[in-house]
Amino acid sequence: MPRVAVIPGDGIGHEVSAEGVRVLRHLDARDGLGLDFEELDYGAERYLRTGVTITPAEMDGLRGYDAILFGALGDPRVESSVHAKDILLGMRFQLDLYINLRPCRLLDARYCPLKGKGPDDLCFTVFRENTEGLYTGVGGQFKRDTPDEIAIEAELNTRKGVERIVRAAFDFATTRGLSRVCMSDKSNAMRHGHDLWQRVFKSVAEEHPDIEASHLFIDVLAMEMVRAPERFEVIVTNNLFGDIVTDLGAQLQGGIGLAASGNLNPEAGIAMFEPVHGSAPDIAGQGKANPLAAVLSAGMLLSWLGHPELEQELELAVRHCLSHDLITPELGGTLTTTEVGDAVIAAL
Ligand code: NAD
Ligand code: IPM
Ligand code: MN
Repeated sequence: MPRVAVIPGDGIGHEVSAEGVRVLRHLDARDGLGLDFEELDYGAERYLRTGVTITPAEMDGLRGYDAILFGALGDPRVESSVHAKDILLGMRFQLDLYINLRPCRLLDARYCPLKGKGPDDLCFTVFRENTEGLYTGVGGQFKRDTPDEIAIEAELNTRKGVERIVRAAFDFATTRGLSRVCMSDKSNAMRHGHDLWQRVFKSVAEEHPDIEASHLFIDVLAMEMVRAPERFEVIVTNNLFGDIVTDLGAQLQGGIGLAASGNLNPEAGIAMFEPVHGSAPDIAGQGKANPLAAVLSAGMLLSWLGHPELEQELELAVRHCLSHDLITPELGGTLTTTEVGDAVIAAL
């Protein structure tokens, strides 16, 4: 029986993950998938009540699940976001989920903000490095709160870390029959870490003569994603750049409420799926959150568990909702979060 941990987290994480779970339960009952769900209360509420974000034993316990469905973390009452750092970045770092897989596909032409672009023009996948870069907290503060204060945030790039994400991008292109991988960095300005990216990318690309390997500086990538997104099939980049361009990509595909992701370590067999968006405190608890990113993330989870046909079916159901205006207010609709969940299940 596949064990699925559900971590709703904070804010709209609760509302959207509930719909993701409802859709999974529906398919589970319909197709006899034998899924076993366990909800875990890691988040701001528990942290404020107990002072505990997540214990080492709890983090270790997550290794025992076949997949994790995650909502979002972030609560205005926890200004430091220490719980998000411990839980979300904790999962990525400590479970070594080195691939942050973020598909960017336009599911309905009407929602694309780019003039003259349609679903055929917007269909790429970002491989975001997920365990190092500028996210590791390496650095420090000196003479804090004085006029001479110094703050250093170091970017960590290891050969192993860069190589495995670049390889994952090429392997994905190969298995999907795709022909283009673009690596993006800022090696014109960052001569140490990003020079490593350059050298590793070139050497892995040489092992894949059948795949067109290209490079763009990150500023140009941002521009090209808007000007000519059809250029891209697979993009591989570092942790911070991947964070930024996938919010840009989310908007190109219709909005942050539609962008799904997976955090994966295929070798260790551990994976966590989550919408790209955050806890959206501005709309939390109002039934306004779009659950489709969470539903599509649940679809990615089904593929991970060996049911790619169910991910495709879910995507069709989401397309149906979009084309029939069964959508939440930020997309111009009138349905609540739960009603969109109902619509997905009805479409299935
Ligand atoms: P956000 O993604 O939460 O919200 C940005 C904007 O998008 C807001 O206007 C919000 O209302 C809207 N939005 C987001 N998701 C939506 C949805 N499903 N449906 C409709 N509208 C949606 O980003 P933020 O405001 O910068 O961050 C809020 C908190 O979430 C912060 O604490 C941040 O650190 C955290 N965060 C967490 C994650 C995560 O857990 N993976 C990701 C991003 C941000
Ligand atoms: C994301 C989020 C996180 C990130 C934050 C909450 C640390 O923005 O998952 O995209 O930057 O990775
Ligand atoms: Mn982000």
